[in-house]
Amino acid sequence: MLKRFVSPGRLIALGPARLVTPRRLRPPYQIADCALSPAKGPFVSNYEKLFQQRGSAYDRAMQDFPDARREEFLQVISAAKLEPGMRVLDVPAGGGYLRSHLPEGCQWVGHEPCSAFTNHGSVAGQDTDLLPLPFAAGTFDAVISLAGIHHLEDKAAFFSECHRVLKPGGVLALSDVAEGSAIARFLDGFVGAHNSTGHRGLYLNAATGHRLAEAGFSIEACSTTPFHWRFASRGDLGTFCRGLFDVIGASLDAVADAVADQLGIDVLPGGICAMRWSLLTIRARKLANS
Ligand SMILES: C[S@@+](CC[C@H](N)C(=O)[O-])C[C@H]1O[C@@H](n2cnc3c(N)ncnc32)[C@H](O)[C@@H]1O
Repeated sequence: MLKRFVSPGRLIALGPARLVTPRRLRPPYQIADCALSPAKGPFVSNYEKLFQQRGSAYDRAMQDFPDARREEFLQVISAAKLEPGMRVLDVPAGGGYLRSHLPEGCQWVGHEPCSAFTNHGSVAGQDTDLLPLPFAAGTFDAVISLAGIHHLEDKAAFFSECHRVLKPGGVLALSDVAEGSAIARFLDGFVGAHNSTGHRGLYLNAATGHRLAEAGFSIEACSTTPFHWRFASRGDLGTFCRGLFDVIGASLDAVADAVADQLGIDVLPGGICAMRWSLLTIRARKLANS
């Protein structure tokens, strides 16, 4: 189980009880964050191709069910401890879904490198590179990265860019799937076997804490956060998940059954069909003098 460590001034391991001192973190560092699980299904290894294929189905699901992931957005926003007047970078932003959940008075800026996520608006997005981030150093009070970097191999480069674009004292709120979690098994298992691209995640693990510390962040909080994706019916749940994950090889009912078996579905007051989901959420701060 992933544990929570808060230790200002020291480097943090996110895995089983292990604090790591700077001396033990000299290069060479482990590059890949975790071993890849065997691919089931038609795995697309190139990220750009993967999301060009899946991005518009994902975006359509998000447009059709804009409130389904509300709790997920609110938990990472809460971790970022935003205040009115803050300038917030959302990266990778997908179709900008986080924006409408930000507290009033915050300025949202999104960076999404894949146009397939942004074609719903009147202006189509442009394909670009994720990195380097196209912003000057010290631009943002906070960077939020939600459910984005589990396909990114070079997390060190991403963290380093987040650090660069933050103001001194700024916060990176990172929320993504934890290695070894039920969510990771569901994505690499059922989803990977039935969607259009296959799925192999490079999930958050102990190495994530090392990479953040090397980039110049101090980790203030780290915890597994459970929440629900909410739907009016089981059919809506199946429709959303089928679109979001681009499941082409299983029916709506089969998707809902897999969710119920592997993750759990709660029925909330009002008959709300609430699918269990959870992410590892980290608040990391750029040191004021860096
Ligand atoms: C699951 S979507 C998440 C989007 C949005 N943050 C959300 O919560 O809905 C994954 C995002 O990660 C981006 N992404 C994933 N891997 C990437 C990589 N290796 N390089 C660039 N972008 C990547 C995709 O473009 C996409 O926006």
